[in-house]
Amino acid sequence: MQNKIWKKLLQRRIIRRIYLERMGEPLIYNLASAYIFLFGSVRQKIEYDCIPRNGYAYCILAAADAAKKHGIGRLTLIEFGVAAGAGLLNICSIATQVTGETGVEFDIVGFDSGEGMPPPVDYRDHPEKYFTGDYFIGEKKAALLDLLPSNAKIYYGAIADTLKQAETEIDSVIGFIAIDVDYFSSTRESLRVLDWDPSRYLSSVLMYFDDVQEADDNEYCGELLAIKDFNQRSEMRKITPVNYLSKLRFFKNAFWHGQIYYAHVFDHRFRSNEYNKARGRKPTFLTNPYL
Ligand SMILES: C[S@@+](CC[C@H](N)C(=O)[O-])C[C@H]1O[C@@H](n2cnc3c(N)ncnc32)[C@H](O)[C@@H]1O
Repeated sequence: MQNKIWKKLLQRRIIRRIYLERMGEPLIYNLASAYIFLFGSVRQKIEYDCIPRNGYAYCILAAADAAKKHGIGRLTLIEFGVAAGAGLLNICSIATQVTGETGVEFDIVGFDSGEGMPPPVDYRDHPEKYFTGDYFIGEKKAALLDLLPSNAKIYYGAIADTLKQAETEIDSVIGFIAIDVDYFSSTRESLRVLDWDPSRYLSSVLMYFDDVQEADDNEYCGELLAIKDFNQRSEMRKITPVNYLSKLRFFKNAFWHGQIYYAHVFDHRFRSNEYNKARGRKPTFLTNPYL
């Protein structure tokens, strides 16, 4: 296992990524991150991008912090597109660490066909990039299911069908949704998860989109088109990038910043003066040094 992880870290692609993202950053941040990697808290490790799948880790911690503010003690984290399960197992591990840091607990839900990529519907699914049957897990499925902790579950089948079942079964507030289903058509189906009653979500759900960062990704195909399609059809829910994320991070060159979005739930009860008044919110007064 350790061998496999080292082999992955030593791939040319990964070394290039670390070089691009980290080596141009101030030495002081790199030294601090080495110290934090060894001795830091989970929150510090996430701040310094020391946890595998930094984007997922950032979102899960941010969702837990938001949940705590509203007295929510349990959240659902979703990944659409599980394949061999590397991302889902990362979510499980991050969730355990974030529970230790914040006290918020998690249910983890994955969706996958179990058969690899379905046939593309048309050019909008990028048939030039993806191929029917890509990412088929084969006989390793049983091993993946064995590795899942008791708070995690995978729905196998077409997302258009399994999401309907999940709607009746998911029973904690949704705080994070990762989309890694590559196609426009599959992303559009996945985004139906945002059509449920507003009480099913945080008022802003953290989202990760895997396939919006390639040089040729565009709003006429794939995940970017599905985001546009969702925003056009949905009046009270909109998906937008998290503003100024790079400026607020130590390691500003990280690729994942451009993959993080919010699904804003504008019809959520948290977004009202009445709700906030009931929680003790009072008018804010600004001081003015000139008065
Ligand atoms: C790129 S892989 C996911 C990789 C995974 N997130 C990881 O971290 O390794 C995409 C997966 O999406 C699944 N998928 C795509 N469209 C789907 C659909 N309409 N219904 C169910 N699964 C779908 C495929 O089965 C495939 O396993």
